[in-house]
Amino acid sequence: LRERDLVVVSNREPYVHSRTGDGIAVERSAGGLTTALDPVLRRLGGTWVAWGSGDADAAVADDGTVRVPPAEPAYDLERVFLAESTVEDYYYGYSNSTLWPLCHGDLGRIRSEPSHWPAYERANERFADAVVGSVEGDVDEGGAAPIVWIQDYHFALLPDRLRSRSGLPDAATIAQFWHVPWPSPDAVRVSPHARELLEGLLGNDLLGFHLPAYRRNFLETVDRLLPGASVDREAGIVRFEGSGSSETERTRVYARPIGIDVSSVRRAEPIEEPSSVFEAYDLDPARSLLLGVERLDYAKGIRERLRAFEHLLETEPRWRESVTHLMVAGPTRERIPEYRRYQRRVREQVAAINDRFGTDDWTPVRHVDAAVDWERLLALYRAADALVVSSRRDGLNLVAMEYVAANAGGTGTLVLSELAGASEILEGAIEINPYDVAGTAAAIDRALSLEIDEGDEADEADEADDPDEAQERLESLWESVRRHDVGEWVRSFDREVTALATDAGARG
Ligand code: G6P
Repeated sequence: LRERDLVVVSNREPYVHSRTGDGIAVERSAGGLTTALDPVLRRLGGTWVAWGSGDADAAVADDGTVRVPPAEPAYDLERVFLAESTVEDYYYGYSNSTLWPLCHGDLGRIRSEPSHWPAYERANERFADAVVGSVEGDVDEGGAAPIVWIQDYHFALLPDRLRSRSGLPDAATIAQFWHVPWPSPDAVRVSPHARELLEGLLGNDLLGFHLPAYRRNFLETVDRLLPGASVDREAGIVRFEGSGSSETERTRVYARPIGIDVSSVRRAEPIEEPSSVFEAYDLDPARSLLLGVERLDYAKGIRERLRAFEHLLETEPRWRESVTHLMVAGPTRERIPEYRRYQRRVREQVAAINDRFGTDDWTPVRHVDAAVDWERLLALYRAADALVVSSRRDGLNLVAMEYVAANAGGTGTLVLSELAGASEILEGAIEINPYDVAGTAAAIDRALSLEIDEGDEADEADEADDPDEAQERLESLWESVRRHDVGEWVRSFDREVTALATDAGARG
């Protein structure tokens, strides 16, 4: 990777520029994908092409390029400025009202308008222009063929569009990583654009998924829904005569989960002490703290979890007044009615639980209705007795990994949905099926009890259970988080790109 120019493409930009009273403020984006990839680009340099979403973007530079991070510039950020109507139909529309629910197996939430698909096509074209524009100069100067590394479901058409552009050298590598699940062929076939999506993706030389199951689903989908494609499931190779060229194209499909930048979590000394979060949120440190951290998205299973928490309070009265569920769930994609409705229901549910069980000095559920900054988040991770991830479906889930890394060597229990991709690679969590209300309540009960036992040395000798269970769980989780560091994910990508080149040489 170091020897070739790297161009990363994602919808979300890693740094957002906004106008303030006295100039331009630059803020890091909070999402998992940008947080994971920023250290990679900082190390390798290159260009990151993304949608310019801040209101000061246009003012920063005419060509949309800016060096980031502001304090230690290490790579170029090239922003693609989209018309408001394109954002509406491409981002809120096709990407997040069709592809997001489709990939997360929530077909009932798909909302489609005739304007969505053309805007998705348009945005993919615009990004193709930007990518070609950003590599053209370098290649003219005799640089090595670039690697274009596209991220996620916003760009299913981009690989094929790039393939058909003349500005991109033949030796360029086009690769993509799909960060959300790939569903079964039966789910994909509900889309009237299934064929176009697959053809677009097969413009890639390399296509990555987090898990072998997603890769399997993808290969099976191509096999069943795309006539003319030949699929070698064992080797993960698809051959297809794409629209972009007269030659048969070949896409290699691999699976390797992303991870977190372990060292950045370990190095970070929380500016805030864990104890300060009790003050900030007016919590009693004598009570257990159950934490949830996610965007306010139906895929995260927040309502299922609240129901389970309520069930816990109903059936195990000893937890009344002795546990607080702090839920950091900031609003997301609010222009989509489905998300607004979900937010409203979550708020109502929180209010109902608090009405039913709350007392003068105890609020059972505290909903922090905004994203919190990284220092505060680290302090929260460290202060919490348990983190619960209750996704109905989740490509992976990096919050679970951050929680483990923040607590390694200390205490903390992870309750993790078996429907989140992370459960395939993290060993040591208490697993739940979020649709199982009583089972989830029991898992929360167990996690909190383990932590109480752990902290209560006097009781240790009387413990019927293994007194070290919480510690053993955390150690084995930590081991799996370290094994899946984001650096490993990048190295695996590097190996795959190298294998492509060797392979092409052998065939040539
Ligand atoms: C989650 C998903 C990513 C996706 C991102 C988009 O983090 O795991 O795959 O790219 O959401 O979030 P956004 O706020 O940009 O819509």
